[in-house]
Amino acid sequence: MAITEEGLYKALSKVIEPDLKKDIVELDLVKDVTVDENVVTVIVEVSNPALHNRKRVEEAVKFQIKQEFGGDVLVRVSVRPISGDVAGKGLRKVLPFVKHIIAVASGKGGVGKSTITANLAAGLAQRGLKVGLVDADIYGPSMPMMFDVQQERPQVKQVDGKNMIVPVENYGVQLLSIGFFADPSQAIAWRGPMASKALDQLFKDADWGHLDVMLVDLPPGTGDIHLSLVQAVPLSGAIVVSTPQPVALIDARKGVGLFQLPSINVPVLGIVENMSWFAPAETLNGRALMDIPENERHYIFGKSGARNLADELKVPLLAEVPLVQSVREAADVGRPAVLQDGTPAAQAFTPLLDAMQAVLGKLEHAAPAKVASASDEMAVR
Ligand SMILES: Nc1ncnc2c1ncn2[C@@H]1O[C@H](COP(=O)(O)OP(=O)(O)OP(=O)(O)O)[C@@H](O)[C@H]1O
Ligand SMILES: [Mg+2]
Repeated sequence: MAITEEGLYKALSKVIEPDLKKDIVELDLVKDVTVDENVVTVIVEVSNPALHNRKRVEEAVKFQIKQEFGGDVLVRVSVRPISGDVAGKGLRKVLPFVKHIIAVASGKGGVGKSTITANLAAGLAQRGLKVGLVDADIYGPSMPMMFDVQQERPQVKQVDGKNMIVPVENYGVQLLSIGFFADPSQAIAWRGPMASKALDQLFKDADWGHLDVMLVDLPPGTGDIHLSLVQAVPLSGAIVVSTPQPVALIDARKGVGLFQLPSINVPVLGIVENMSWFAPAETLNGRALMDIPENERHYIFGKSGARNLADELKVPLLAEVPLVQSVREAADVGRPAVLQDGTPAAQAFTPLLDAMQAVLGKLEHAAPAKVASASDEMAVR
């Protein structure tokens, strides 16, 4: 049967975009279709660039074209994230005006996930980005304290006849935490489904508006909340925080492994090593913290552990953040250390912020999906 453009578009109109729940032709996501004898090449865009999503669309495109023209047709599919401003197109159903949603996880507790997330959020906001932060640590929310907004309660406003939660803002960061909705002195004995529902509401029943990036601080471990999160929102990727200590690295490996499970397939954007080293303040002698040479650094929890793990797992090491007393103090008084301009506490986060901006830049210009198999039917890049 001759392959016609009309027939191709008919086949493609049967492919439903998983996130947007409409067909890819109607959504104008078919970017190019070429036919060379019995080889069809299609370029399609998707709203959620997670690998499982791209794979799903790729397979659906192949299936529908073969249904239409028979199994002999060779179909090459390139699936890439929607180019340009996804948000501006208002296409994605969940959080349509949020460019990138990034989860911050660890394996082990207490490695500094929340501290890293709070400083990333405040630091990126200081650099001019529109930043949102969701404290998804249902069991021990710490963001209200780290942002000095424990006493605040988010307002509710009507949007299109629906009650929406308004995030609380401080230091230029839009924040929602489960801590706002629960009495902090009460043990929160959330049962799984309740916790998932609560998390879902923080994303879907809140008026987040336009954001360049939304960070999600997860509880430690690899539990139900992680699974609820990947189901609730289209994550652009995840960051895993670890200290260089072997016992933390074992859990960090599990954290990375969770996101890389075939059923989850969220790109791991990198590992952040926290509490990498320490140098007493009195040894600075006017030098910038990051200029302290290696032989003057104290590697309290071991050296280069996360770097080695990142190499082994083939994920980037985003930064090595030192242990600084004023970072801890800043967290306790509710003003992220990164905002103390020019101090060692702020300098500790500069390489991490630079790395994160580079990651966001790359996501923005994300390349078409790479597909592992080289067989003729597989996707072109
Ligand atoms: N780079 C750092 N320098 C100094 N103190 C730090 C640093 N990172 C984290 N801390 C301190 O370590 C403690 C644990 O940090 P944090 O609460 O951020 O960890 P977490 O991984 O979020 O813990 P949990 O698993 O309980 O959520 C806090 O007291 C925090 O202030
Ligand atoms: Mg935490």
